Amino acid sequence: MECIFLGRGQCSVIRKMRGTLDIMPDETPAFRYIEQKAREICDLYGYREIKTPTFEATELFSRGVGSTTDVVQKEMYTFCDKDDRSITLRPEGTASVVRAMIEHGRCGGVMPDKFFYFINCFRYEAPQAGRSREFFQFGTEMFGAAGPYADASVIAMASDVLGNLGILDGIRLHINSIGCPECRPKYREALKAYFSGHLSELCETCRGRLETNPMRILDCKNPECRKLAENAPKTTDYLCRECEEHFTELKAQLNGMGIRYTSDPSLVRGLDYYTRTVFEFIFDGIGAQATVCGGGRYDGLVEELGGPHLPAAGFAMGITRLILAMDQCGIKVPEPPSPVIYIAPLGAAAQAKASLLTYELRKAGICAECDIVGRSLKSQMKYADKIGCANVLIIGDSELETGRASLINMKT
Ligand code: HAM
Repeated sequence: MECIFLGRGQCSVIRKMRGTLDIMPDETPAFRYIEQKAREICDLYGYREIKTPTFEATELFSRGVGSTTDVVQKEMYTFCDKDDRSITLRPEGTASVVRAMIEHGRCGGVMPDKFFYFINCFRYEAPQAGRSREFFQFGTEMFGAAGPYADASVIAMASDVLGNLGILDGIRLHINSIGCPECRPKYREALKAYFSGHLSELCETCRGRLETNPMRILDCKNPECRKLAENAPKTTDYLCRECEEHFTELKAQLNGMGIRYTSDPSLVRGLDYYTRTVFEFIFDGIGAQATVCGGGRYDGLVEELGGPHLPAAGFAMGITRLILAMDQCGIKVPEPPSPVIYIAPLGAAAQAKASLLTYELRKAGICAECDIVGRSLKSQMKYADKIGCANVLIIGDSELETGRASLINMKT
């Protein structure tokens, strides 16, 4: 717990945990705006909202995300509950959506089945601009479509969300294919051979990964490992014919849609479940944490988590990174409405009447405020101005007697 001591006789102040965020009222309109703009595109693409639990059995992520990933090895918030079950605060949303698909028997349903979600996630990472330990994602998942047209549609949807937010112009899209279980073994062998020649330069975690999952070395955040990864063999040189054709058709689709991209053979992504297509949208100018959206195809995950073979693809965006990008682009988000009328009572009897009138106005759908703290008329006028209310109704004894009062427009 982080706290500061104020001196003898005073209580210490409890501060939020490092890496968590208080989203204060001046920031929540941006969250709401992003949600609204994302929902518009979800409706357009036929996605339906899903809500899953904040915590899950730890095994869901160790099996789903991959036991050799940074997320599972270093970043999960894992604890035992009172029944001694190992529980993890979700580090991402995909594994939970897949679990829910299986648990609710939807894998045999009408395909494609398409979901979207707004969630908080938890990863124990070094906090910096655009990276926190509790963070917020907008994500989508599509099940039951194996072809490159599904990948194109998923990427197009992400691009449209970014466009609807007004930030697409500042964004680069990188895509890659990391192959399938058919072509992956050959690539793993090539990676193993390459990194074995640089064993002493690898971090300790990556030395362990060399045997278990050498692809994860490409995603390590250690600077030495990153440097080595730059010259490592590229996935695209090892693709089987089907993966090659899939990737070629995806690129043709993106070209046809007018979606600009860079084919980036060094892009592998940090989660184990991906097969074939992976992609990232990057907004330069918001610091080191510039990836605003990441996603890809994950054809083996449903099976890995106990379901049938079911192809799938999706993406997730970090909300706070989107806000940083929107700030850079000068996007103004709508503010919540100001009150239409402020009722200023003078005296106790008027105060009671003002309170009831305000309630009636609100019942009629009119945004209204009145004094409830016993301010002087002068400070009531100041307060009305501060909350952006142009119309003030003053009620004193004579107004109560006549049942009439004048509305003052503060601007005119
Ligand atoms: P991810 O790349 O781990 O993918 O996260 C997606 C996005 O969440 C990132 O691009 C970034 O914008 C944001 N993000 C990640 N970590 C943090 C953090 N510590 N602080 C702030 N923002 C962060 C996934 O989570 C996959 N589940 C995406 C997916 C869905 N793939 C297929 N379907």
